[in-house]
Amino acid sequence: MSNRYAVILAAGQGTRMKSKLYKVLHPVCGKPMVQHVVDQVSALGFEEIVTIVGFGAEKVKTHLGEQVKYAVQEKQLGTGHAVLQAESLLGQKKGVTIVLCGDTPLLTSETIDQLLAHHEAEQAKVTVLTAEAKDPTGYGRLIRNEEGLVERIVEHKDASDAERAITEINTGTYCFDNVALFESLKQVKNNNVQGEYYLPDVIEILKSQGEKVAAFKTDSFEETLGVNDRVALAEAEAIMKRRINNKWMREGVTIIDPEQTYISSDATIGQDTTLYPGTMILGETVIGEDCQIGPNTEILDSKIGNGTVIRQSVVHDSEIGKDVKIGPFAHIRPASQIEDEVRIGNFVEVKKASIGKGSKASHLSYIGDAEIGKDVNFSCGSITVNYDGKNKYKTKVEDGAFIGCNSNLIAPVTIGKGALIAAGSTITEDVPSDALSIARARQTTKEQYMVKSTNKID
Ligand code: UD1
Ligand code: MG
Repeated sequence: MSNRYAVILAAGQGTRMKSKLYKVLHPVCGKPMVQHVVDQVSALGFEEIVTIVGFGAEKVKTHLGEQVKYAVQEKQLGTGHAVLQAESLLGQKKGVTIVLCGDTPLLTSETIDQLLAHHEAEQAKVTVLTAEAKDPTGYGRLIRNEEGLVERIVEHKDASDAERAITEINTGTYCFDNVALFESLKQVKNNNVQGEYYLPDVIEILKSQGEKVAAFKTDSFEETLGVNDRVALAEAEAIMKRRINNKWMREGVTIIDPEQTYISSDATIGQDTTLYPGTMILGETVIGEDCQIGPNTEILDSKIGNGTVIRQSVVHDSEIGKDVKIGPFAHIRPASQIEDEVRIGNFVEVKKASIGKGSKASHLSYIGDAEIGKDVNFSCGSITVNYDGKNKYKTKVEDGAFIGCNSNLIAPVTIGKGALIAAGSTITEDVPSDALSIARARQTTKEQYMVKSTNKID
């Protein structure tokens, strides 16, 4: 098998998106379109992947980093001109180069592989990936001769009415003999409606030189959807969402309402977990087996252990153990570590805190910048006072301590093992192990006070 290279076109401005965000960075199921393309290409183990960047180059480079090499297209003069920018990196190499668009996020590595296999079997100089489109508007059309052989591609804007009636479209993905690609690119002209150097013109050029040009038609138009505007972006999102949800259902995850469940393509979910409607599993989240997530729950870049239940809650950048119960209406903010069998109830916020096995904060608490031991009880309304307006301080609560209702633990402070904090206390000093601390004003009761006519309330 010959050497294989890939060029991803990502320099276009994406005018039709009408966006401040660079087109190929628009996310589909939480991941930028161009990253989807890079992932599918990377799975095939090419020698080199070159991404053509231009408008918004720095942002694409920041996102993709070292995953690919870059060639810059200063002016967006067309897809042919874009590929030519990779000449200094690839021009001299012998082998096969696949060219893809950064705006086709649904294309799979299986289809790219089939295209490569067809190209190699046909021993063609170029093989274009085509598909049948119900509505081919906007796409380049494949022109075949009477024998059905590929002649050329005509862009929608340049096409005659008869050509526009053709439904076999150019998907924007091609396989080229690398040397033939760069030689023929130099002959591409811009005498078309858009005044651009079109990459598909290479096909006609090679054909006129008597070279073999071929097409491989995929039966999945869906995969080849090119996202040029927000309508197509929503279509891509819906297709990708369905693809991801189907995959997890086949792996043994129950999704009560797939239409209302959003799973990032980088997330993983264990068997016999149930996802309820309105659940968003985002980023690189890992969810264990036998969990119940949702309804209306957002989990981002977090790890959730087996058997955990999370209802109507938000969890970001945190690690949750096994058999934990969270929610309804809890907020687990970044850098929190919640160990096995913990219970975090309604209206509890946890931030940058570790909570030991079996501990409970069942109602209305704030636990921030804290280290909470095992079997601690944070009663209703008790909070860590971690911020003085300038700096943040740490609260430490050791194993088995009981923090009574409506207590304020003013950090920095340590509550010793097994200590009891009386309800309503404001704790400013460390409490030793096994102590009882009461820090509240004593109650004063004035008997018969309300009987006096002057104190009566009208
Ligand atoms: C292109 C094809 C069309 C095909 C369609 C499939 C051409 C001339 N047309 O049209 O036949 O049916 O894709 O989706 O190739 N880009 C650059 N530099 C440029 C211009 C574009 O890098 O100067 C990049 C864009 O960022 C994009 C890709 O090339 O990722 C395709 O460009 P786009 O403008 O979307 O082309 P289409 O009109 O979709
Ligand atoms: Mg496009």
